Amino acid sequence: MKRLSIIALVLLAACHPAADSPTKITLTSQTMTLPTETVTLPAEVLTVNCTACHSPEMILTQPKLKPEQWQAEVTKMRGAYKAQIAEKDDAKIVAALLALPNQK
Ligand code: HEC
Repeated sequence: MKRLSIIALVLLAACHPAADSPTKITLTSQTMTLPTETVTLPAEVLTVNCTACHSPEMILTQPKLKPEQWQAEVTKMRGAYKAQIAEKDDAKIVAALLALPNQK
């Protein structure tokens, strides 16, 4: 659902007329109900750094990865998706990822 919202926002942004467009538009607020997230990650460092853009399941459903593969994943989130993850936290994040139940 979060993913759908992100796609909807991207589509909206793409369709939005240029700022200097002479067309007068009126923006409205809509009410929408998103499902409550029930799955949580066991480490605060993961909740803080990894759940802004996608649900915990994105991480909890991955196959067992090696430390360097998780590090590459964190680097990808920062590079490709501009995740605001401080590099000084990488080692702590990778350790927390390796301790997840799906990584045993
Ligand atoms: C700034 C937003 C953002 C943050 C923060 C973020 N991710 Fe992602 N992540 C994404 C996007 C976008 C995708 C691709 C989603 C898709 O393909 O549907 C993704 C996909 C993934 C995937 C699926 C495999 C892949 O590479 O596409 C994993 C695993 C993942 N993220 C792990 C993490 C972890 C671990 C963290 C925290 C260290 C994190 N993400 C933080 C945006 C983010």
